Amino acid sequence: MPSKVIPVPPFTITVLGATGDLASRKLLPSLWRRAVSGQAPMDSRIIGAARTKMNDGEFRTHAEKCLQESGALNGSADNAMLREWLSHLRYVQLSAQGEQGWNELQTTLADSPSPRLFYLAVAPGLAAPLCERLHKANLLGENSRLILEKPFGSDLQSARELNKVVRACAEEKQIYRIDHYLGKETVQNLMALRFANALLEPVWNARAIEHIQITVAESVGVAGRGGYYDKAGAVRDMLQNHLLQLLCLTAMESPASYTANDVRDEKLKVLHCLRPLNEQSANNVVTGQYDSYSQDAGAKESKTETFVAVKCEIDNWRWSGAPFYLRTGKRLSARMSEIAVCFRAPPHSIFPSAPSLAGNILAVRLQPREGVTMNINVKERGPGGFRLSAAALDMSFSENPGDEPPDAYERLLMDVVRGDQTLFMRDDELEAAWKWTDPVAKLAAAKQPQQYPCGGDGPEDALRLITADGGKWREIQ
Ligand code: BG6
Repeated sequence: MPSKVIPVPPFTITVLGATGDLASRKLLPSLWRRAVSGQAPMDSRIIGAARTKMNDGEFRTHAEKCLQESGALNGSADNAMLREWLSHLRYVQLSAQGEQGWNELQTTLADSPSPRLFYLAVAPGLAAPLCERLHKANLLGENSRLILEKPFGSDLQSARELNKVVRACAEEKQIYRIDHYLGKETVQNLMALRFANALLEPVWNARAIEHIQITVAESVGVAGRGGYYDKAGAVRDMLQNHLLQLLCLTAMESPASYTANDVRDEKLKVLHCLRPLNEQSANNVVTGQYDSYSQDAGAKESKTETFVAVKCEIDNWRWSGAPFYLRTGKRLSARMSEIAVCFRAPPHSIFPSAPSLAGNILAVRLQPREGVTMNINVKERGPGGFRLSAAALDMSFSENPGDEPPDAYERLLMDVVRGDQTLFMRDDELEAAWKWTDPVAKLAAAKQPQQYPCGGDGPEDALRLITADGGKWREIQ
């Protein structure tokens, strides 16, 4: 069934860093797709701003190229529609810290529709100065919204400093900190699965669940992003944000309502209950680096981890005794993001042919091939004996096999226009995530990452992290 589209009011978005990678690969294609779907009105205005010298015409040509390269034009709309959409694009050459372009931006915005969004798709060091500059130019009024991209700092202290600057320029209700994993369809479906069905709640706890595995495996490496990545590593790039967000949504209590602050309050509580890691628990952190990393990143003898696996404990009544194993890595055998809820085995087997029975596994698959499967033990078909085997109850969310859901940015951008912060991180939540991550980053930095071959499952030690407790990682496929 085609998804129902509820149009948003016309808006203006100023993309700062409009010629960069994020704007080219994600933001412009997402805005176009939302226009084609009828959700983003055609008379909305997109203003590209960057330090590159360009005029409106050149920016429109650049945007068209971005749409082509990202595949956003494939079968989407007719040429007349594309021309119209492009005609609403404007460009302002802007200096982040200097004076150039700010008057022009103010004039361009003067008669443009509200709400006015400012998307900072810029290098991390420019986020704070740009916020201050926007504030000084009186552009962050009541109807303005500020969208910030990760990384939000590189540790707790820098995140606090950034939050302080941003909050001095805009109110928290105007600030949208993006973690694009929250915009993924299945991540939201996880909340539907948990809180729109009574079936799972009675067993969603450590009494019934043995452990939970969260995997974000990527087959790509860091080529082209080495400069940033070599300073960040997997802990800061993926664990602090995407994996912790998935953990929070899996572990949190039912929010009072599906509204921004209620959902974020519950996620924050989970972060507060995460047991801090320290030198005594150093073995709970395993790091790895794929074997061709140095060439890819252009960084010789780097110790930066491209893989991290962590065993986490949540110290509360629901989860005490059911660890969460998180792992993420680059250049692994496949692209796969999944939350696997591994239930305890039945306490006793009555079947002589199967003296021990496997526990059920509920796997929530984010990408690719989004869906949910439940592994259950069934009787093998046929009259010969009574043997058991595992079968999967399979629920795919794709309308057609091979269909990918809309890009997370499409949903998140529309949420900003609607003024809905549910899928964005609040300042205290961000700081709590860093507070837990800082010691992990320290432990990771003190280790020599174990090399692993490209196209494999990550370092050997990561296997041991879970087998030592009697478990087994899910296959990356
Ligand atoms: C980004 C990270 O936040 O997420 C990248 O900086 C990573 O290193 C990317 O590749 C993964 O996102 P997705 O949506 O492709 O799983």
